[in-house]
Amino acid sequence: MERSFIMVKPDGVQRGLIGEVVKRLEQKGFQLAAAKLMVISREQAEKHYAEHQGKSFYEELISFITSGPVFGMVWQGDQVITISRMLMGKTNTLDAQPGTIRGDFAVHTGNNIIHGSDSPESAEREIANFFREEEIVNYERTI
Ligand code: CMP
Repeated sequence: MERSFIMVKPDGVQRGLIGEVVKRLEQKGFQLAAAKLMVISREQAEKHYAEHQGKSFYEELISFITSGPVFGMVWQGDQVITISRMLMGKTNTLDAQPGTIRGDFAVHTGNNIIHGSDSPESAEREIANFFREEEIVNYERTI
């Protein structure tokens, strides 16, 4: 079963969009396996965004993601990584189509509501950065 780390960023939490994000992922057919409201440390943020170190927006990104609570989640399901990124919409908000989460709720690329893993390798690394394995519930859907 594929897993993804999906996070409602500080702007999404402050705007009351946790429920909207969870609703869209649930109604698509994915299963929530773990969830946690947390303020992430600078160290966790640097690990999470290591690939962006050195980019012009890196400092802004780290300070934004550590600025307030985020809602971190583990979701599971077939093709959850690719399909959840379709539900999220493109990173650049000018490319995010209406009907997607970013297309419906975000105007700025820096404040784009949601993050989702982009590969199985990133997902496992990101999940391990924010969750202990015993916090993740493994279950099969029976209905
Ligand atoms: P995310 O999917 O969390 O992964 C990296 C983040 O960097 C991305 O979402 C954006 O929020 C942010 N980002 C990407 N490009 C820019 C940019 N040009 N200016 C500010 N933030 C950016």
